[in-house]
Amino acid sequence: MPATVHLIAAARPNFMKVAPLYHALKASGDFTPRIVHTGQHYDFNMSDAFFVDLGLPEPDYHLNVGGGTHAEQVGNVMIAYEKVAMADRPDWLVVVGDVNSTVACAMVGAKLWIPVVHLEAGLRSRDRRMPEEINRLATDVLADVLWTPSPDGDENLANEGIPAERITRVGNIMLDSYELLRERIEAENAPARFGLEPGTYGIVTLHRPSNVDQKETLEPLVAQLEKAAARLPLIFPVHPRTRKKLHDFGLWARLEAAGLTLVEPVSYRPFMSLVSNARLCITDSGGIQEETTYLDIPCLTLRENTERPITILEGTNRLVKPERLVEAVETVLGGQWPSGRRPDLWDGKTAQRCVEDLRRRTALRQAAE
Ligand code: UD1
Repeated sequence: MPATVHLIAAARPNFMKVAPLYHALKASGDFTPRIVHTGQHYDFNMSDAFFVDLGLPEPDYHLNVGGGTHAEQVGNVMIAYEKVAMADRPDWLVVVGDVNSTVACAMVGAKLWIPVVHLEAGLRSRDRRMPEEINRLATDVLADVLWTPSPDGDENLANEGIPAERITRVGNIMLDSYELLRERIEAENAPARFGLEPGTYGIVTLHRPSNVDQKETLEPLVAQLEKAAARLPLIFPVHPRTRKKLHDFGLWARLEAAGLTLVEPVSYRPFMSLVSNARLCITDSGGIQEETTYLDIPCLTLRENTERPITILEGTNRLVKPERLVEAVETVLGGQWPSGRRPDLWDGKTAQRCVEDLRRRTALRQAAE
């Protein structure tokens, strides 16, 4: 009998991590994957469009939790997922990334003695003001198996006392999605849809509460983006959180007047087409720091720290203070931005390593029983 695996998909950055694993588990014949969508992200272009782009089927379970405060989101996911996990108890529960649904489902699994696997374990920003850092710490403590993307992840977990036999370095699964869809991404030619030539424009994404929730932080960023837009065309797919704040603070019109192309969030394939053809990315996202390192595109990260230091050590990512954004843009345009290399195991074969590790661990468990 194939072992059943619940894959928790919740928010936009989860979908490109779940998709390659889903496809690899299904193809293996040894596992039956079931997708549980918590509904943390619910807009069509934050969620459904990604399922279509990534070739994911309709979720087996939809928890429809929606938005809310952190406690409401975590609590509602726990209540809803516990019912599913009790009615259809899986052999393995895989949670990915660092969103509220990740920690909520890990907690449910741990309390029901369902073995929990954390995909993208061990990342640390060491900034507990970030909700994601709390989610990462708590999830890694609860998980039975920790799949890490890079050596810093292994070290962080070892320093926190996690036994080595629970940790497997599998690499960066998000890049499997890129490789699975590379041809179709290349065929998208998304820049042309916005009237842009490859290599001539920048792409902007912003959604961290620390950047967008207060006018005192968002306004100076808008001022810098106005100046940067005078140097090269900027396309800005706006996250719902950011859209609301830009309107609340009266900043939306300023970006429009400065000539930025403000658009709805873009689904996976056109987004990666935009990124892979960009001159540079300006972002506070986690995933884009990794995708740009993989694609050797300059990444200007508007944060004080990153849980993905390997993208700076080996890749094209640099942390940029808001007041120095334009200077950093000039550095890129002047051809002075350092290029990088792909970290080990960022090779599009991570899902296969996950399947092999799960097979090995399933055999160990069966032998122990
Ligand atoms: C969440 C994750 C973050 C991830 C980000 C990617 C947590 C703590 N944060 O942050 O790690 O990088 O997703 O997008 O889990 N909204 C919509 N439509 C949607 C989804 C959200 O309108 O489809 C609105 C919500 O109602 C809320 C705001 O956007 O007002 C923020 O959504 P939320 O899921 O709370 O957090 P994100 O900022 O998206």
